[in-house]
Amino acid sequence: MEIITKANYQTWERFYRANFINSLTGFKSINLIGTKNQDNKSNLGIFSSLVHIGSDPALVGYINRPIQAAPHTLANIKETGFYTINHVCPSFIEAAHQTSAKYDEGINEFDEVGLHEEYLGDCIAPFVKESKIKYALQLREIIPITLNNTFLVIGEIQTIKIEDDILQDDGFLHIEKSNSLASNGTDSYYSTSFLNRYKYAKPGIKPLKL
Ligand SMILES: Cc1cc2nc3c(=O)[nH]c(=O)nc-3n(C[C@H](O)[C@H](O)[C@H](O)COP(=O)(O)O)c2cc1C
Repeated sequence: MEIITKANYQTWERFYRANFINSLTGFKSINLIGTKNQDNKSNLGIFSSLVHIGSDPALVGYINRPIQAAPHTLANIKETGFYTINHVCPSFIEAAHQTSAKYDEGINEFDEVGLHEEYLGDCIAPFVKESKIKYALQLREIIPITLNNTFLVIGEIQTIKIEDDILQDDGFLHIEKSNSLASNGTDSYYSTSFLNRYKYAKPGIKPLKL
């Protein structure tokens, strides 16, 4: 067992400390965000900082790094107001990781990494054809986080496409059946294994399996 204090980790080498802090928060869902710019050029990037904000209205947020570090996705979302979120599956894990490379503006990462664009409903932003769970979002709010120059980008869920057998009778998505992956830090990916679902918890009552 090791005890590490702020005074300790503040002295660490930059990349060592980043690996440590980035992986401390544990497994996250891993997703590709698809956008288009005003000139109709597509962009695709990998993002793990997704967070459920609320189900009614149906809001999802993600953290965008400082604009110099990750400029294109956020700029496109501001320009068009629409974007897609696509779960990552093992069959395209390397292509998904490659989208994190710093491609120049106007370079279409779909073409660069060998993924395919798909268009659904009236969403102008591209979906990832290979993804088994994907949804469009309309931008609702961008909250600047002045502490570190990042942004909480919040969108409302629009059209959703899900492969067969994933949607359960009670509305729950059995995402393990789509082999949706998790990540930790910015370089490690995990498959998941389902344990149990439990009934709504009540004080003093032992958790009951569904
Ligand atoms: C596993 C993984 C997770 C990432 N998660 C995020 C994230 O949540 N937010 C972010 O701004 N960048 C994240 N990145 C970095 C972006 O993918 C990278 O900066 C990308 O170039 C942004 O593209 P853009 O300039 O087209 O927006 C992540 C990278 C990897 C490899």
